[in-house]
Formats: sequence, C-alpha cells, structure tokens
Amino acid sequence: MKGKKNILKLSALCFMALLAAAGCSDQGLTSTVTYNMTIKPILTVNCFPCHQSASVSGGVTLDTYEGVKEAVENTKLVNAINQNAGYSPMPQAADKLSQTDIDKIQEWIRNGSYETPAIPDVFIQPYKSCQAPASTDNLSSDDNLVCTNVAISGSTEEGRSFIDYETCDVVLSQRPYWKKAPYNDVNPSDPRLNDKEFMAELEWINSQVRASGCICCHDTKSSGRQAAVWDVSAQGIWTDMPSDQGIAILSGKVSSAILGKFTAEDNNGFSRDSIGFPTTDVARVQAFFNKELERRSVTDEDIAAMPVFGSFLVDIIEKPPVSCTSSEGIKADGKIYWQRSEARYIYVKEEGSENPGVPPSNDNPEGVLWRLDVLANKKALMPGVEYGDIPEGTYQVTPSDSSTPPELESGKKYHLYVLKDILQPACNCIFTAP
Ligand code: HEC
Ligand code: HEC
Repeated sequence: MKGKKNILKLSALCFMALLAAAGCSDQGLTSTVTYNMTIKPILTVNCFPCHQSASVSGGVTLDTYEGVKEAVENTKLVNAINQNAGYSPMPQAADKLSQTDIDKIQEWIRNGSYETPAIPDVFIQPYKSCQAPASTDNLSSDDNLVCTNVAISGSTEEGRSFIDYETCDVVLSQRPYWKKAPYNDVNPSDPRLNDKEFMAELEWINSQVRASGCICCHDTKSSGRQAAVWDVSAQGIWTDMPSDQGIAILSGKVSSAILGKFTAEDNNGFSRDSIGFPTTDVARVQAFFNKELERRSVTDEDIAAMPVFGSFLVDIIEKPPVSCTSSEGIKADGKIYWQRSEARYIYVKEEGSENPGVPPSNDNPEGVLWRLDVLANKKALMPGVEYGDIPEGTYQVTPSDSSTPPELESGKKYHLYVLKDILQPACNCIFTAP
C-alpha cells in the first residue's frame, strides 16, 4: 500500500463522481470538497504523469496524500496552479487548470479539510476513488485510471487487489472488526492440496475476494491485520475455517443482502446480488461453495434452518415507527426535534415508506422527502435543525439536485427517522405536520 495512511476519510455526496468532479460541483458542494472525491481526480488527470512516486518532478509527489499535503503546506501547490510569479507554472506544457478546479483546490485548502480526518468510530460513507494503476500490479492494461468503490462491498478491477488502491480505514469504519478465531482448523495433509484443479479454483476465489473490501478483515497477509474467522492467505485450504453458516453465506444460500451492494455496472463488473462477496462470476462462486457444503454434508434442510446474516441488524432496520411524542417531529417553528440528542442523519419521509438501511444500496428508500447527512469529520447535530436548512458541516442527499425539499402539508402525517450513526436509530416516529 502506498502512503495512504492519512487519506481524508470524508463522506461523499455524489457516489458516481469518478473523474467528473465537475458533475458534482453543480450540486452546490461548498462543504463537501474532499480529497478522494474532488482533489485527487483533478490531480490524477492533470498532474500525475509527472508527479508520481515513480517519476517525481521538482521534488513534488502528488499521488500520495503526504506528498500533496507537503505541497499544500509549503504553498507551492497553490502558487504553481495559479501560475504566480516566482513559481513554475503548472501543469507544465499544458493549459492552466479551469477556474472551477482551481477554486475547488483552494477551497479544500482554505477550509482545512486537508488536515481534518474523520472522527473516530464514525461511519464513513462509501465513495468512488480513481487512481493510476499501481506499479506493483503486473497486469498489462491500457487503463489510465483504476476506479474503486471504497466500501466493504466495493471492488476494484478484476485481478487487482483492493488494498493496493484503497485504504481499509474507511471499510473499518463501516463494520466492527475483531480477531475472531476460525471455527475449524485447516488440515495440513488435506488431499485436495495435491489436486491442481481444485487449487487453481481456490486461487481464483482468493483473487476475487482480494478485489473487494472483504480483504481488509479476511486476509492477514496483505492487510497486516489478523483475519476474522477465515483468511484467504492461510496456509492450506482456508475454506475449512468458516462455520457451515459462513459457507452458506459465501455461496449465497443464506442471504447477506442486509449489508448492501453496488450494482455490477457500478462496481467493475462485480456483483453481490446473490452471493456473499462481490464476484465477476456468480455461478462459478456458487458452484465452488456448494461443493464445500456437500463435502460437509450440509443439507438444504440445515440451510433453511439458518438465520439470515445479521438478523439483529434486520430487527433494528425494520422496526416500525411509533407515534412521535409532543417533543418530537417538526414543530410550528419549522424545526425538527428528536429526543436523544446527537444525530448524523436526518430523514423526513412519507408515512408508510420503508426505513433506510445501510449504504450503498439500502439507505435511500422511496418516499424520502429530505435527507441530511453530517460529514464524517464534523460534529453531530443537535435537535432544532430547520427543515430544508443545510448547516455547516452537513450536506443534503435528498433532493439530490440540492433543490429545497417539498413543503409539508399541514395536518398530514410524516415519518421522522433520525440516526445517531448508521444502524443506530435515535428517533423513528410519525408526526403530524403543523
Ligand atoms: C509535463 C509534466 C508536468 C505536469 C503535467 C505537471 N508538472 Fe509540476 N512540475 C514539472 C516539473 C518538470 C517540475 C520541476 C521543474 C520546474 O519547477 O519547472 C514541476 C514542478 C512543480 C511544482 C514546484 C513548483 C515550484 O515553483 O517549486 C509544483 C508545486 C508542481 N509542479 C505542481 C504541479 C501540479 C499541481 C500539476 C497539475 C495541475 C503539475 N505540477 C503538472 C512537470 C509537470
Ligand atoms: C471490518 C472487518 C470486516 C470486513 C471488511 C468483512 N468482514 Fe466478514 N467478518 C468480520 C468479523 C469480525 C467476523 C466474525 C464475527 C461476525 O460474524 O460478525 C466476520 C465473519 C464473516 C463471515 C462468517 C464466517 C462464519 O464462519 O460464520 C462471513 C461469511 C464473512 N465475514 C464474509 C465477509 C464478506 C463476504 C466480506 C466482504 C463483502 C466481509 N466479510 C468483510 C469482519 C469483517
């Protein structure tokens, strides 16, 4: 992993931003300029060719966060892009950056985002990050940029490793990690170790796991973190390690849909629609793990009796709303009140609409009239936020075009859903609009 320790871990409004940082700027992103979403794409296109760790011009490295930070702090970056006298005008031998891009970089520097990491233990929203192919990759490719969804269920390109591209810090903010021991030991004299075909298939499975965020907690060797339960870098055949239910989850026979998924088109062809980890070949993964279930003599009956993955999460998410008390809901002053104090997410929804679940796929159910998120490096909100207002350190997710949310009809019932953080509802109640 190349110096990404300090990468800013901020939330993202526009998951699909890719290079099109410009596409995001339409949305009035004043407080959401982030390194990964906004700054890195600009530098990647305009500056990486001459300022990568492999070929450093003028002692300035721009493909690592540390390098960029240094150029910010010695003020060379801002002077070079503004082509100020006394500095080498950048980008060399090309047009000056657009004023929009310069503004974004300046804003990022000015508001101090470049040195404000996420608050510990706060869920960091998934985002997409793009960068030049890692020099350690021996894939021959004409890719200029490798784009990766930075999330548990996010994947980089097939054949590459998530960890070569992205920080696990974001993934670790999205799910608890601990060193849970394997259910079974691997068998050092397993006859399948000599079965070339089997071992080749296992190697392929491993490469698929390594393309995704799962690697952060399930591959001791490349993450440097002791794997939980199953370890794709274990000596021998790691598929011995999980419980029967674990294998059923990996095969997709037991659903883990609660954890959310990207669409394959938006995830380098990796689908998690019907399987545990994102894969480019669902049938092949299913066949592999179904064989393992068979080998363990796990029957369909056994599987039918297994609970879905994270059933306690399902209970949290699917809990129906109650009636708001007199001190909850939107009041005559237009402000939103809830009882337990701090909040990072506010949803005002149609009555009868589903509760939000986890990103990237389950957090924007239909019927949301207004959704406000707090950036991962900003402090949570206290009750009294005005409906439609966007306080400093927050951004509006719905409506996504940053228009004002619809006016509430007086006398009509609405659903207020407030979260302390993802999966931690603080208020889930029905109120009548004043
Ligand atoms: C075609 C190659 C090339 C590109 C593209 C390029 N640079 Fe440079 N850059 C250089 C070279 C060569 C130097 C060192 C020689 C010099 O100062 O002219 C340099 C120097 C710098 C310096 C130090 C300036 C100083 O006066 O000390 C900064 C900062 C810098 N580049 C930033 C950038 C940024 C930001 C971009 C993209 C917007 C960029 N460069 C794009 C080749 C390039
Ligand atoms: C942030 C760390 C982390 C990440 C990332 C992670 N896991 Fe896990 N995983 C754990 C921990 C801890 C456990 C053991 C405790 C538990 O089941 O929650 C576990 C357990 C499991 C089990 C159950 C094993 C068994 O034998 O019962 C499966 C299956 C699993 N993970 C699949 C995945 C998949 C697939 C991904 C990627 C989409 C993934 N995990 C990403 C931490 C992680």
